[in-house]
Amino acid sequence: MDTFDVLLMNIGQLLTMESDGPRKGTDMKTLPMIENAAIGVKDGKVCFIGKNEEASHIKAEQTIDCEGKLVTPGLVDPHTHLVFGGSREHELALKQQGVPYLEILKRGGGILSTVEATRNATEEELFEKAHFHLNRMLSYGITTIEAKSGYGLDKETEMKQLRVAKQLDEQHHVDIVRTFLGAHAIPASHKDKSDEFLNEMIDLLDLISEENLAEFVDIFTETGVFTVEQSRKYLQIAKDKGFDLKIHADEIDPLGGTELAADLGAVSADHLVGASDIGIEKLANGNTIAVLLPGTTFYLGKKDTARARKMIEEGVAVALATDFNPGSSPTENLQFIMTLAALHLKMTPEEIWNAITVNAAHAINRGNTSGQLTMGREADIVIWDAPNYMYLPYHYGVNHVNRVLKKGETVFQRGEHVERLSLS
Ligand code: NIG
Ligand code: FE
Repeated sequence: MDTFDVLLMNIGQLLTMESDGPRKGTDMKTLPMIENAAIGVKDGKVCFIGKNEEASHIKAEQTIDCEGKLVTPGLVDPHTHLVFGGSREHELALKQQGVPYLEILKRGGGILSTVEATRNATEEELFEKAHFHLNRMLSYGITTIEAKSGYGLDKETEMKQLRVAKQLDEQHHVDIVRTFLGAHAIPASHKDKSDEFLNEMIDLLDLISEENLAEFVDIFTETGVFTVEQSRKYLQIAKDKGFDLKIHADEIDPLGGTELAADLGAVSADHLVGASDIGIEKLANGNTIAVLLPGTTFYLGKKDTARARKMIEEGVAVALATDFNPGSSPTENLQFIMTLAALHLKMTPEEIWNAITVNAAHAINRGNTSGQLTMGREADIVIWDAPNYMYLPYHYGVNHVNRVLKKGETVFQRGEHVERLSLS
């Protein structure tokens, strides 16, 4: 037998997450796991998975003793707004005074203030800033993410954001799937002219395709932003041009974005706090994945959360994400989102692990490459400083990562300075 490049021995619980497709409904209780396991890597790919004793004769360039701890696939964050200028800490005081999120936006703040900061930032500045956040994501065990534009709302800045995300995908260890969210808000220049604005965004689609800048198109379907009918027309055009679809649906007001996502065969419908019974039924009967964002409802101080229990009981495939952005969810910590999913969405640890690996990968068209550890797949692996899989949602607010391997190479290690390791 060839010498392996890396061999991880003495794994207490190895979550392989092996699954033929997304896990829907009560199948999310299934947690494929090997106890007292070992996993081997050759040329960046998984070349051995089995019991620890079966691996005792294997030779490897590097052997890592996992000391009986938990090992899982690299986490997948399927909804982030990674690239933006500035920050919005001043909005915290407005929130404390009870000013609603959509009211801040109406006053020209919120998303629109980040638009101004993003327009004013150079490509290099945006790259440096996003790189910083990406390093932090990696340090939290995330090896694949989705990243949206949407803080430009004009040709130049939307393209600038997407180019930065593409460059980061090429240069950073974390894989980045890109989404064009030009329809994220109505810029001041187009007040009361939202159709005209959407037409301008439609005009960008061919260019985005030609430069391979995005694989998904997304829209914020919400009161005061875009209506369901506008969203339907816009997304249908994007679909006809070959893009896959996502929707910011029923985040604050229950408008029917969930039904729209299912009708159009969107790959994911995201937020879904106000999703109707019919919307949930449609998701269950189709292939659209529900991406739930409990960090956002937590941070916006909402009493209501997405009805994860109902979704799972009805047969929906649920994924979880940070929604990392400067306004409604400024965190890169998907581990904290696990705790919120347990406490606020009442999801079980097994459901949560499926939601941040297999289902998250399918929510961004990466089900065949990310979110599982099976023979022949790229070895994106996290070694946790945790005794078992239930420990993560339980012990909250801290980073449990011990080591992250991307394609079999150690790219983050506790105690190491992340910048030193993270650029290829
Ligand atoms: O997913 N809801 C719309 N977009 C983001 C928030 C963006 C922002 O506030 O900057 C979200 O929550
Ligand atoms: Fe979002």
